[in-house]
Amino acid sequence: MQKKVYLSLSLCLLMLIIAPWTCTAANEKEGIILVAFGTSMPEAKIALDAIHEAYTRTTNTPIIWAYTSDIIRRKLAKQGEKHFSVMGAMNEAARLGIRRLRMQSLHVGAAQEFQSLQQMIVRNLLLFPDRFESVLLGRPLIESQKDMLAVRDALLQSLPKERTPNDAVVFMGHGNHNGPGDLMLYSLNAALQHTDPLIYVAAVEGGSAFEPVLAQLKKQGIKKVWFQPLMIVAGDHARNDMAGNEADSWASQAKAAGIESAVILRGLGELPAIQSIFIKHTKDAWDNFAHQKKAD
Ligand code: CO
Repeated sequence: MQKKVYLSLSLCLLMLIIAPWTCTAANEKEGIILVAFGTSMPEAKIALDAIHEAYTRTTNTPIIWAYTSDIIRRKLAKQGEKHFSVMGAMNEAARLGIRRLRMQSLHVGAAQEFQSLQQMIVRNLLLFPDRFESVLLGRPLIESQKDMLAVRDALLQSLPKERTPNDAVVFMGHGNHNGPGDLMLYSLNAALQHTDPLIYVAAVEGGSAFEPVLAQLKKQGIKKVWFQPLMIVAGDHARNDMAGNEADSWASQAKAAGIESAVILRGLGELPAIQSIFIKHTKDAWDNFAHQKKAD
C-alpha cells in the first residue's frame, strides 16, 4: 500500500514536470448540474424525471437540478418543494465539494434562456473565482445541423401510429421575439417540410406564428391535424396554448376552421433519442468557464 502511494506520488511529480494540469485535476470530485426552464405541473415533470433516469444510467457522479424560471421556483416553494436556481445549484455543488463541474442546458436551442444561463454561470464564477477547477457547459439540444437532423428523425419516429398520410402535424415550439432562437425553429420546419410537406413547426412567440400555418392547412384541404409539443416538457404552453379549451388555443382554432384536431401531450424529454443528444452534449462540452486562462 505504502509503495503504491509512493509510486503514484512520484508519477504525479513526473507528470507535473511534463504536463502540470493532469495531476491537479486527477482526483477532483465531479458532478453535474442539469438546467431546465422548470415546470410546476407533476404531469409535465415526468419528462424531466425521464432525463434524470437517463443520466443516472450513464454516470454515478452527483446530479443537481436547477430551474431557471423564478416564477416556477416560487410557485413550487409555496407548495413546500425547494428547487435550486442556477446560482443556488452552483452553490450546492461547491457545498458538496465538487471541483470539476459539468453543467447541461436542457433547452431546445441557444436562445434567450440559454444566454441567461451563460450569464449566471459567469456571475457565480466572478463571485467565487477559485471554487471549481473546471466548469464545462453542455450546449442545448439543437446546436448543429447534425443535431437538427437527429431531432427531425426523433420527431418523425414519435408520430402516433394512427396518423394517416393525409393528416397534418404541427409541432409547437417556444420561439422568441428577440435573439437567434427563431432561426433554429425555421430550419427545423424546413427540414421537416422537406421530408413530409404536411408537417410544420410553429411557435408561441416570435416569427413562426401558427396563423399562417393554419391558413396553409385550410388551403391544403386538411381534414385532421395532430399537435405535439416541441418543448422539453408538455407544460403550460402545451396544455393551454396548444391543447386547451379556450377559443384561442391551436386545437380550438383548428376546430373552428373545420379541421379535426388531436393532441399528444408528451415532452421531448420523454424521448430516448432526445435524451441521448443531451448526454452526448454533456460528454462533448468543451467551453471551460472556470479557468479559461489555463487553457491559453
Ligand atoms: Co413561455
